[in-house]
Amino acid sequence: MPQRTFSIVKPDAVRNGHTGAILGEIDKAGFRFVALKQQSISKRQAEGFYAVHRGKPFFDALCEFMSSGTLVLMVLEKENAIADLRKLMGATNPANAEEGTIRKQFASSIQENAIHGSDAEDTAAFEIGYWFAGYELI
Ligand code: CMP
Repeated sequence: MPQRTFSIVKPDAVRNGHTGAILGEIDKAGFRFVALKQQSISKRQAEGFYAVHRGKPFFDALCEFMSSGTLVLMVLEKENAIADLRKLMGATNPANAEEGTIRKQFASSIQENAIHGSDAEDTAAFEIGYWFAGYELI
């Protein structure tokens, strides 16, 4: 059964011109693009999205960063999508990311780490519903 996950190309990667290369890596890895849109978001919208991280020391800076420029929001589908995307992304801190992963290639710091991917089925469902209406999922 195919599984869906949610992903964001973050503002650092969009600003640095890496959108096409990152979408290419995702495509090559066999994901189907169920939905995809480019937009900027408010700090309030970022705070709602990252509500599970509220109270952590990096929360405010993270929400400032995520509202600092254009993002690409995506719903992706394949067998084992959640785990496979996280493997393709590499470790949160690019310093610890494996060679060939998206973060190793395109991220510059633990905050400006190029890409987000859902970490579990329940968070994927929340994140897809936060950014996309049912009619946008094709
Ligand atoms: P992401 O996968 O989008 O989930 C939460 C984000 O918070 C993470 O990627 C990083 O961008 C950021 N983040 C996580 N841990 C830290 C940290 N220790 N310091 C700064 N930012 C962090």
